[in-house]
Formats: sequence, C-alpha cells, structure tokens
Amino acid sequence: MTEAILLVGGQGTRLRPLTSNTPKPLLPVAGVPFLTHQLKRAAAAGVTRIVLATSYLPELFEKEYGDGQKVGIRIEYISEPQPLGTGGAIRNAAERLACGPDEPVLVFNGDILSGLDIAGLRDGHRYSGADVTLHLTRVADPRAFGLVPTDGDGRVLDFLEKPEHSADIVTDQINAGCYVFTRSVLDRIPAGRVVSVERETFPGLLASGAYVRGVVDHGYWLDLGTPAAFIQGSADLVRGLVASPALPGPPGEALVLPGASVHPGAQISGGTVIGEGARVEDGAVVKGSVVLAGAHIAKGALVHSSVVGRLAGIGPGTTLDGVVIGDGAEVGADNELTPGLRIDCRVVLPAQGVRISAARA
Ligand code: GDD
Ligand code: MG
Repeated sequence: MTEAILLVGGQGTRLRPLTSNTPKPLLPVAGVPFLTHQLKRAAAAGVTRIVLATSYLPELFEKEYGDGQKVGIRIEYISEPQPLGTGGAIRNAAERLACGPDEPVLVFNGDILSGLDIAGLRDGHRYSGADVTLHLTRVADPRAFGLVPTDGDGRVLDFLEKPEHSADIVTDQINAGCYVFTRSVLDRIPAGRVVSVERETFPGLLASGAYVRGVVDHGYWLDLGTPAAFIQGSADLVRGLVASPALPGPPGEALVLPGASVHPGAQISGGTVIGEGARVEDGAVVKGSVVLAGAHIAKGALVHSSVVGRLAGIGPGTTLDGVVIGDGAEVGADNELTPGLRIDCRVVLPAQGVRISAARA
C-alpha cells in the first residue's frame, strides 16, 4: 500500500476569472478535470489511498470524485476552514494516513503536469534512507519557484523559495512540487497553525541536519498556475507531448468532446479542445486553445492560445490572442483582444468595443 497527500486548497488567483467558480485543480485540461490526470497517474504508480487537502470550494472535489472509484484510487477529503499553507495542510492531512512511521508518503502539489516516474521516486527514497526526497526540475527562469541547490550526491544544500535578490539565484534546479516524506518526519510539522513547507519546513530540516535528497528529472514538467501555462499544458496533453492515462481519446491536433459541433469549414488545431456542447461556426480558426463546455465561437472568429469559459460567446470576426474569457461572458462582433487580457465572467462587450486597429467604418 502506498499513501499520498494532494494539496488542492489554493485559490488559483493567477488563473482568475477561470477560478472564480472552479478550483484550479478541477479546471478541464485536455477534456477532463486536471486532477483526473494526476489521480490516474498516481494510481498507475501504485498509490492506493490519497488524502485531498482542500480549502477553497472544498465541496466541489467530493462531488467530482466521491470515494475515488472512477479514478482507481481510494480518496479521503480533509478541508481547512482557514488555509493552513502548504506545510500546515500536509500536517493536517497526515491525520488521515494509516501507514506506519517508517513508511514513505508521497505529497503532490495539485497543479503540476509531469512525466515523473512516481514509483521510482518513492522506491529511491526508501533505499536511500532519506528523511525527505524532492523531485527537482531545471527551468530557464527559476525566480517564480523554490530554488534547490544540491551537492554531487544529490544532497540538498539549501531551499530558497522565490528569492528576491539576484545573489540568491544560485541554481536553475527548482522544487518540482512532488515530495516523498518518511511518515515520522511529516508528523513533526507543527499542527494547528499556518506553515509553509517551502519557507519553514524544508529550511528547518536542513538546519537540523536532516537528510534531504533531490532527484533531478529531465522529463516533461509544467506548473499550470498561469493562463499561458494552463493553455500550453492542455494542448501538450492533447498532442501527446506528455502522456496521460486520462486523455479521452488518441493524441492529435484537436480534441472534440461529445456533443460539441464544429462546422466543416472551421479549422481547429494546435492541441485545441472543444468542450461538451460547444459550437464552432464556419470559417472560425481555433488554434492551441481551450474552449469550455457550451461556449460558442461565431463565423470567422480567430481564437489563438486563449481560454473561452463555459457558455461564453465569441462574436463573428472577433480575434482573441492569449486571452482569458470568463464563464458566460459575451464578446460581440469584430473585437480584437490582445495578449494578457482577462474578460470577467458574464461581462458583455459590444461589437467593436475593444480594438487595436482602427475601427471599421
Ligand atoms: N490545502 C491547502 N492549503 N493547499 C494549499 C494551500 C493551503 O493553504 N496553499 C497552497 N496550496 C496548494 C495549491 O492548491 C497548489 O496545489 C500547491 O499547494 C502549491 O501552491 P501554488 O500556489 O501553486 O504554489 P507555487 O506554484 O507558487 O509554488 C510551489 O510550486 C512550485 C512548483 O510549481 C512551491 O512549492 C515552489 O517551491 C515550487 O517550485
Ligand atoms: Mg503552482
């Protein structure tokens, strides 16, 4: 038996307005809630029981997964009325673990898409005798992550969460958001208060001389915390750049979900998903985008690297590039929405309301 804790209590603020009604881990990615990919990967790695540490919109998780039968893993839920931070949430969830003090416990951030060999990380932890093993990855710009320098044997030397000074940018190795804790180490995190595993627990373990091990993995890795990464992760799954047992269909240029309609004169490509009951009309071009359930893309609209929320409407001739459209928003005809814009849920933009080129006569 292997047990795990999945951290899913964050508010997903960087993904608003998509996360206004849906917690980040439940947003549809490649046709299913993102968490389904993570849960099925964990099940495939031999995890038999997982505790979901919730806080934001907690009831939606249980509604989606129940006892976990449909994803092949026994799921328990524990909710923090006030968020306890990553370390506090892990400590709180540990109350529900059944394993003994020397057993390995996997801990996952709830927004990571990766090709990690989860069973290999757990088994390596067991053989090494480490207190904690961290999955690490290399990124071009590590500033938004936890920096984790290691020595030649993979022993962690320091843990620098989102450093603000350039002198602290000492490595491109970052915390990839998956850990193996020996159960007794996890039980020593203080209970009943806010704790950051990154800012308090890991530095504290290092200061006390604990054996913290880092394993650098060179496979696919993405944190889906920003709109651009969310869209990229979905498209990469659809195109098969990262494998998932939860992908509903074979990999390809697009995933059209049941009940969606795409006009033969429309073009959909680049790993686009068209959600249940969504409609794409003649001449529309949708590339590398996520179109959620019940949305409507009218004639001749161009949608590029964007998310169109549930039941949202995109008018004829409108262009979206790198844009997030909230649930139920209505964008009228001939708007031009440029990268970085977020249109809130249920906002109505009139025809030609927002343009970058001169308005039509
Ligand atoms: N239950 C609970 N309670 N969960 C929480 C809380 C809380 O108070 N705060 C955050 N979480 C969950 C989030 O839902 C998410 O799944 C995970 O913890 C990490 O939070 P993020 O908000 O996504 O953190 P981050 O991306 O800025 O940084 C973390 O991940 C990076 C890798 O993507 C850190 O662990 C970094 O060190 C790491 O490099
Ligand atoms: Mg994150």
